[in-house]
Amino acid sequence: MIRGDSDEYDLIKKWCETLPFFSEPKSINTCEVGVREGLGSQIIMMSILSRFKKIDYVHDAIDPYGDLEYKHFDGNPRWKNGDEWTSKAPTYSNEMRDQMIKDFATNPNFKFYNMTDIQYMNVFNLTKTIYDLVFLDGPHTTQAILREVLWFAERSRKGTRIIIDDYQLCNFEVIRAAISYWGFKDIEKGKNKVCFERI
Ligand SMILES: C[S@@+](CC[C@H](N)C(=O)[O-])C[C@H]1O[C@@H](n2cnc3c(N)ncnc32)[C@H](O)[C@@H]1O
Repeated sequence: MIRGDSDEYDLIKKWCETLPFFSEPKSINTCEVGVREGLGSQIIMMSILSRFKKIDYVHDAIDPYGDLEYKHFDGNPRWKNGDEWTSKAPTYSNEMRDQMIKDFATNPNFKFYNMTDIQYMNVFNLTKTIYDLVFLDGPHTTQAILREVLWFAERSRKGTRIIIDDYQLCNFEVIRAAISYWGFKDIEKGKNKVCFERI
């Protein structure tokens, strides 16, 4: 079953529905880093397709699953497990992945990459894909987000949007300054999600 673990999906929908195209696009590419049970990807694809019915559209969904242990946030975050606080971060299983694959099996726009963000960036480093909208919801450390935003910003166009989840938990000013090199500005902030657009 397609589900989300967060809120402000209404903002993702709005940022897709208002994504600017300065000429009629021939093709559209969107991407989500960190898919989990798929709600982010589902909303992005539905919102894009509500605007362009007959378009060459690809949505890349990147997630390693496999109960990978990784650093979720800067510092030493703790998670509530029942009544107790623990430093053991949640992981995301291959069973979750297999269900997600079934849920999107008939979706022709959906392309799943069972790998980490870094592996994806290495594999596609030399390809010329330009991304129209990217949702970053994998690791939330400043280092990981910085690496991702710079990679995607280099493959952007005027009007491309990059959405970052849990932006309050990273060093937002560092991200904002770095991405401004590519002409991105934060156009709207929610409680957890922020949207940058290349102006
Ligand atoms: C918070 S969940 C994503 C929630 C999802 N975006 C949604 O809207 O429901 C984080 C996901 O990031 C994945 N992940 C962890 N490390 C990753 C990495 N290096 N690259 C890509 N995804 C990663 C995890 O496996 C997990 O599924």
